[in-house]
Amino acid sequence: MVSELNANDTLKGGIEAMKDWRFHVDIEKIAWAIFDREGESANALGRQPLEELGKIIEAVEEGASRKDIRGLVIMSGKPNSFIVGADISEFENMETEAQVIQSIKPVNDMFDRMEALKVPVVAAIHGVCVGGGLELVLACHYRIATRDSKTRIGFPEVKLGIFPGFNGTVRSIRQTGALNGMKAMLTGGMIRAGAARAQGFLDQLVDTPDRLHWAARKAVLKKRNSKPARGFKSLMSKWPARSVLAAQMRDQTKKKARPDHYPAPYKLIELFEKFGGDYSTMKVEETKAFAPLMISETSKNLRRVFFLSEALKKQAPKKLGWKPVRAHIIGAGTMGADIAGWCVASGMEVTLQDLSHEQIENGIKAQEKLFKRKFKTKALREAAKTRLIADPTGKGLKHADIVIEAIVERLDIKQALFKDIEGKIKKTAVLASNTSSLQIQDIAKSLKDPDRLVGIHFFNPVAQMPLVEVVKAENTRAEEADKAAVFVTKIGKFPLITKSVPGFLVNRVLTPYMMGALGRVEAGENMEKIDEAARVFGMPMGPIELADTVGLDVCAHVGQILGHIGGASRMELLIKSGHLGKKTGQGFYEWKKGRPVKTTEKPFAKPDLEKLGRELVEPLIIEAERSLEERVVPTKDLVDAGVIFGTGFAPFRGGPLHYKEHRPPEAIPATDKKSAEAERASDEIESVTDEVTKSSTTFE
Ligand code: NAI
Repeated sequence: MVSELNANDTLKGGIEAMKDWRFHVDIEKIAWAIFDREGESANALGRQPLEELGKIIEAVEEGASRKDIRGLVIMSGKPNSFIVGADISEFENMETEAQVIQSIKPVNDMFDRMEALKVPVVAAIHGVCVGGGLELVLACHYRIATRDSKTRIGFPEVKLGIFPGFNGTVRSIRQTGALNGMKAMLTGGMIRAGAARAQGFLDQLVDTPDRLHWAARKAVLKKRNSKPARGFKSLMSKWPARSVLAAQMRDQTKKKARPDHYPAPYKLIELFEKFGGDYSTMKVEETKAFAPLMISETSKNLRRVFFLSEALKKQAPKKLGWKPVRAHIIGAGTMGADIAGWCVASGMEVTLQDLSHEQIENGIKAQEKLFKRKFKTKALREAAKTRLIADPTGKGLKHADIVIEAIVERLDIKQALFKDIEGKIKKTAVLASNTSSLQIQDIAKSLKDPDRLVGIHFFNPVAQMPLVEVVKAENTRAEEADKAAVFVTKIGKFPLITKSVPGFLVNRVLTPYMMGALGRVEAGENMEKIDEAARVFGMPMGPIELADTVGLDVCAHVGQILGHIGGASRMELLIKSGHLGKKTGQGFYEWKKGRPVKTTEKPFAKPDLEKLGRELVEPLIIEAERSLEERVVPTKDLVDAGVIFGTGFAPFRGGPLHYKEHRPPEAIPATDKKSAEAERASDEIESVTDEVTKSSTTFE
């Protein structure tokens, strides 16, 4: 073990006053900078740690010039994460492009100085290293990381409406080539260590975190230096290959995000196309293109969505001291089987019960796809299969930490089931129903302890939907809802605690939107225009296409209950002719290869679509406001969070209530509150909701 010199013996410049970094120079003259942000569980690159890093670079420059330092190693002091990106909360202070440029320049200058150091600079990475963190390590000379599954790198900036701004665009392309670099920046995906090394983001892997220190030392002593992308990889940045690649990237991006809603990826492609062959010019142009994005409404709203997701996670108390390990799911149908599979994929042990053996077996078999996607090795997949146990007689009930009922939607049957199982489960177990339209307080009536029942309302398809409503009836004990929320976060979803009212939050706000659109078709409006208008607004799918996707029989049932559609309606006629939508190949649309056939040739005028889009979502906004008034969820932010993550409501608009508050006067539709009231609907539209949310807007 090397003994250490006190940094203060050899270095000056305020190093001793640092709060977020620990710094020392060892007996071999290797400088170690350990990022360990004070009072935080993870390292975010905010102003203070960046300033402190500046002091470190200065100290190393001085030490190196005096030959007191022969290299610098950058590591993290947090156990399982390296750098989680820039500190987004500080972005909010920037209102003008000039402010953005002013705040970026010293960071870019500092990274340049670090890169220009005459001694080796080695990054030794364990855990997540993303965004600004990845930009920092790309300015180092050599990058070593653990092979551990916790180690992931990535550029998630595009999800916040920006792209890397600390010259990460230039350095990633230089290091990994245009294909790898641009793909990482355009998709925002997380890359495992092995793949990151193959692509050129990393230079060396070690098996375990305890080997990092030694490997980094060796890299400094051997003066290791990463090689930039060569051959074919670097060729793609040259003209004319660059232009061809840019065109392809534009086409790919268009399939996922519209330029008018999400400009950042398009601006990045433009930057690459124009300047990708000239690194020093691209550095300057990166900042110029970055600044307007950073202060745009889109980026502000997408950052808001990030904070909303954090607010949802906070719904689960951190220090409850309750860790669910085993779940028992009753009902192996559409929902129960997928809930069971998802719990297993999240590491839990699950017993799955149903009336029929065959149903259980089919439900278990159906999870193989998910396991294949989630687990890369056969061993892990096999282990997952052994954690999903068929349990026709309910043996698992007494061992379960959480019991979720997902059987047929009938009050009497659910009540009978809960009455039967109440005495068979642990006192500490959470007892939950996945009901979408019944009230928790009604189901609970058959229990001796009705206050323990909570709703855990998953959306369909379970694997894709990020939100789960935790339904707390008036009498439900707070602790039960808290535990349910802990369970939801444990399986990697966002919990939203709602009151037990018809439709809870998500179905309640979505229903009037759907019914309003169907009503317009009845009144003779062009359905293709309606669907296009909803997409122009930013919804993931138009409402009529959605009705077809859900099934018109289901929609008609809903419509009748709501009194919106008369017996001779167009929808009724379609149903009578056996045209139920996507599943029969004909509904409002004709469906071919899973897509609706559109017949309108002439494009609709954009201003008309924009106006109509705003009108279409108005009933949803009004219902969202009403839900807040009635405290279905307690805050505006939680309403917005629930609607974005539960319905796919245009994330770049920041949520329905935020949108309403911030829209310009000309964006307020003439529809008055009364007519919107007429569109109000009830709770029986689970399938409709679930289909809408299937295609929520994401970049992945
Ligand atoms: P499903 O009809 O596909 O499955 C229900 C399963 O429960 C069947 O396999 C049936 O054999 C079984 N079952 C019935 N009585 C039982 C009992 N006493 N003991 C054990 N198993 C029993 O129904 P689905 O669609 O999965 O819905 C289940 C619950 O989830 C319902 O409460 C529904 O409202 C709710 N839900 C459904 C959504 C959807 O999109 N289908 C979305 C969100 C919630």
